Amino acid sequence: MIYGCIGEHLSHSFSKVIHSNLMEYDYVLREIAPKDLDEFLTKMDFCGINVTIPYKQDVIPYLDDISDIAKRIGAVNTIVNKNGKLFGTNTDYYGMIALIKKADIDINNKKVLILGNGGTSKTARVVATDLGAKDIYVVSRTKSNSCITYSEATDFHSDADVVINTTPVGMYPNIDASPIDLSGFPKLSGVVDVIYNPLRTNLTLQAEKLGIKSINGLYMLVHQAAVAEEFFLNTKIGEEKINNYYSKLVKEKANIVLSGMPGCGKSTLGKLIANKLSMNFVDTDELIVEKCQTSIKNIFDELGEVGFRKIETDVIKSLETVSGTVISIGGGAILKDENVESLKHNGKIFYLNRPIEQLVATSDRPLSSDRDALIARYNERKDIYNSTADQVVYIDGSIEENLKAVLEKIVGKFW
Ligand code: S3P
Repeated sequence: MIYGCIGEHLSHSFSKVIHSNLMEYDYVLREIAPKDLDEFLTKMDFCGINVTIPYKQDVIPYLDDISDIAKRIGAVNTIVNKNGKLFGTNTDYYGMIALIKKADIDINNKKVLILGNGGTSKTARVVATDLGAKDIYVVSRTKSNSCITYSEATDFHSDADVVINTTPVGMYPNIDASPIDLSGFPKLSGVVDVIYNPLRTNLTLQAEKLGIKSINGLYMLVHQAAVAEEFFLNTKIGEEKINNYYSKLVKEKANIVLSGMPGCGKSTLGKLIANKLSMNFVDTDELIVEKCQTSIKNIFDELGEVGFRKIETDVIKSLETVSGTVISIGGGAILKDENVESLKHNGKIFYLNRPIEQLVATSDRPLSSDRDALIARYNERKDIYNSTADQVVYIDGSIEENLKAVLEKIVGKFW
């Protein structure tokens, strides 16, 4: 192993992919059991390694030299072997600073709550200090000299300006969880969540709803890897290359969700968009028909709208793990908050807003089978289409024009 990452469990690590995309070099993931760590570090059979859970502190006694940043944090995630001498530093620090900067969240002179008391919390404390935070409180489930509890945070620090989540609460597969309810903090101007899977956690989705700037951790992950590579290879990767790769990674991971009235062109445009952007395509109505082996109209006849909506929610939930996919959703899917949240974790919702005059009622659509029903649905839902969308796209032209209008909203400004 010349370059790579060590940790106890690495099956979910993105590091190999990120490292080998940023620079063309061989980067290996090496799981090491606690009993074998000593032998690995004494042998020093590597040029550069990243270190992850649970070894970020354990490696420190093996180092000949440690950067000031890593010393202050008390944890090391990058080790370079310089002619038999081991130098350790912490590039998570630079990643977190870059993340906060990318979201344009101001910490200077602010009251900051750091959720969690593990390794990343230590990085967040040093970052918040260096960015000029006025007060920093670490919030933990268990009270200690250095931590306050969640109820103390709500009761005594509702004037907090910024929240940084360093806990795994909300991370895949438990994506319905959230570490704190932000509505108790009316002064909040920024929320940072270091979780990168899903792309949007419940915490940052709530921040968005409340109009608070927020960001999740994928950019930090890419940035810390890039800085580690700069140490390993004694080179400069630079902001532009980091940002280009980040956009590529987001495109691979994120979904494009098309919402809108029955007959607005979600499926037709969805297939064209998927083709144009080399993404997969799924249609939730088609998945429902496949699952039930009968038509949407029959499902409504047999189970009513409530029964249909239950199946629709199950199908949408099953899509929480897909990535890089264009998802066309049924016209009524946005009526349930639960569906919207599921879709938004890894996707952006584009509302295809087509003038009602251009929509045509069809007999196979139970809730919009004639013109009056279609108009009623439109009036009931138009506000919900708007409020649940990340982007609204007006489409009133030919298929080619509409495709162009949607792509303009997607390409280059996706996440
Ligand atoms: C519905 C729209 C349909 C389908 C079902 C319910 C709705 O999808 O999911 O008939 O409530 O508007 P389309 O929007 O693709 O027609």
